[in-house]
Amino acid sequence: MIKIREELNVNKDVRKHHDPQRESRVIAVTSGKGGVGTTNVVTNLALSLTLLGKKVLVLDANVGLANIDILLGLSPQYNLNHVLKGEKKISDVVVRGPGGMKIIPASLGVQELTNLSTEQRIVLLSELASLSEEVDFFLIDTGAGISSNVIYFNLAAQENVVVTSPEPTSITDAYALMKILSVGYAKDHFKLLINSVKDPLEAREVYQNLSSITDKFLRLSLDYWGYIFYDRNVARAVRQQRIAVEQYPHSRASQCFFSLAQKVCSNQPVFQSEGGINFFWNRLFRGDEAFSCRSLDEKGISFIS
Ligand SMILES: Nc1ncnc2c1ncn2[C@@H]1O[C@H](COP(=O)(O)OP(=O)(O)O)[C@@H](O)[C@H]1O
Ligand SMILES: [Mg+2]
Repeated sequence: MIKIREELNVNKDVRKHHDPQRESRVIAVTSGKGGVGTTNVVTNLALSLTLLGKKVLVLDANVGLANIDILLGLSPQYNLNHVLKGEKKISDVVVRGPGGMKIIPASLGVQELTNLSTEQRIVLLSELASLSEEVDFFLIDTGAGISSNVIYFNLAAQENVVVTSPEPTSITDAYALMKILSVGYAKDHFKLLINSVKDPLEAREVYQNLSSITDKFLRLSLDYWGYIFYDRNVARAVRQQRIAVEQYPHSRASQCFFSLAQKVCSNQPVFQSEGGINFFWNRLFRGDEAFSCRSLDEKGISFIS
């Protein structure tokens, strides 16, 4: 009983501080297919936003896969499991990245997150609430594909950015992911970022082709978010375990990331529903959506044309 009351209090605190105008923006960055550049988009955008004076928190949700930490040459010592066990505070888990961005390393998957006991949920929610206080942007690298993990993190986020390259397989997989999220889970708003393009025209063509198909077959709106040039400096930076915008700020790709960050800051979305990081965590831990994810796993493939 006491536990439930405590949990309600945590939720009440979350509501009390809810102000859509001042809420941090929760953006899931995702893709239908691996290798299209999602993680690089997250790290480069995160650093570009910090350079504009924004406070950025990144969640690496690629559970079980070495990802952002490897990309940046960081070696996190602890993860959310240590917080759950009460051994560490969230501040011990969070890794400081370039520009002062904060990174929560991958550790808990959808199964663990939705099977938390009430007590564990209280611990995590209050720890995370302390971390989230002064964050402007919360970027989630969901990883790729149509696994329940990817779907689940997308459902909990308010803004959903789909990354694709101009390659047909990447476009088809981006379509399949949006189809599942819209048909299966009523997500009806996406933003498209086209990575590794040779020129802006190519990006526009990819957007127009994909949006004409989503307009025809799906009930969703797809906005054009922008493009990033194909640029060898991105791969060079990866090999050096650095972020391209830091290592090669004058490169063509970095210039795209800077413009994208500016555009993102100036386009403040209008939210009709609840938002902010604490609502994200609440939704994530609640588990009802995960339950539907499990049933989706059972019938999943029927959603893909
Ligand atoms: N704009 C780009 N220009 C050139 N190469 C890129 C670009 N974006 C990504 N890459 C290359 O693709 C690789 C995979 O990127 P990554 O962000 O890890 O993909 P994902 O997270 O989607 O699997 C990078 O290591 C880099 O070599
Ligand atoms: Mg990745």
